[in-house]
Amino acid sequence: MKAVVLPEHGAQVEVTEVAKPEPAAGEVLVKVQASSINGFDLSVAGGHVAGMMEHRYPVVLGKDFAGTVEAVGEGVTRFATGDTVFGVVTKAYLGDGGFGEYVTVPEAVGLAKLPDGADIAAAGALGLAGTAAVDALTAAAPQSGETVLISGATGGVGAIALQYAVAAGATVIATAKPGAEEEFVRSLGAHQVVDHSGDVPAQVRAASPDGVDVIVHLAGDAAALVQLLTEKGRVASTMGFGADQHPAATFVYANPAEATLDRLAGDLAAGRITVPVAKTYALNEVPAAFGDFAGGTLGKIGITVS
Ligand SMILES: NC(=O)c1ccc[n+]([C@@H]2O[C@H](COP(=O)([O-])OP(=O)(O)OC[C@H]3O[C@@H](n4cnc5c(N)ncnc54)[C@H](OP(=O)(O)O)[C@@H]3O)[C@@H](O)[C@H]2O)c1
Repeated sequence: MKAVVLPEHGAQVEVTEVAKPEPAAGEVLVKVQASSINGFDLSVAGGHVAGMMEHRYPVVLGKDFAGTVEAVGEGVTRFATGDTVFGVVTKAYLGDGGFGEYVTVPEAVGLAKLPDGADIAAAGALGLAGTAAVDALTAAAPQSGETVLISGATGGVGAIALQYAVAAGATVIATAKPGAEEEFVRSLGAHQVVDHSGDVPAQVRAASPDGVDVIVHLAGDAAALVQLLTEKGRVASTMGFGADQHPAATFVYANPAEATLDRLAGDLAAGRITVPVAKTYALNEVPAAFGDFAGGTLGKIGITVS
């Protein structure tokens, strides 16, 4: 099958042919139709995760996937051939990924059925970013009437977190540069916008003199932002800013549990969330797409696999 792989440590990412995987006991073989780029993929491609996780070379890159169940391994009960599914490749090692025509994933974690009506390209861009957004919002638990600052609202996680914060009834302040970025976050429901190329704390103080109840930290300098917190304020960070840095902070490590993915799938199918995919690339264009991602995008960069 065709896949985007890291052939060995220190090598360049390449698009090549690798063996089609077989589902082991408890695994599902998915024919991948869509995926998307996450920062983690660039970290793996750059060799930055070596030493933290076992790598089984050639490592097929890609955390996200959406597609159709092609076969199931022994003991699989929740999924059957023909099911439309999406999720996040979650294994104890790196080797199998969504940037290939097929991927094997455990049925136990990182896999959910897609209801009728859910767009497959959107689902392919939803897994990791959506999970991180849900987990961050769960950790910080914004209440109706509270004020939420989303730092990094223009990115993949931020675009989803913003919609959930608005749906929770919070007043949402989003970071975005003037122009297309500002229009983007306002289209997703942001009530106020602060320009992250300027002094964010000063702009937030001007917009919300009493401070903010929740900070969803997806980009920027959390240490500078925490001064904005109200007395009962909370911070949820996907960037390692946790309780060791501030007593009100939680470091969120995205866990694509069944309930989380089911919620995302249901919200996508019902139109309660949209997954903004700014640009879509073919599988053999992934190395070039990495450059675009690193340069900054609005929402997600999608990958069409088949
Ligand atoms: N812990 C986990 O489990 C987990 C899971 C998913 C993601 N993450 C991490 O969470 C972060 C967000 O992920 P993502 O997928 O949303 O990344 P992304 O798509 O690259 O989005 C980041 C966004 O932040 C904006 N930005 C850059 N500097 C900023 C600043 N100083 N203040 C405010 N916004 C700024 C960028 O906009 P510009 O284009 O204007 O620069 C970009 O739109 C990444 O660091 C990612 O690695 C962690």
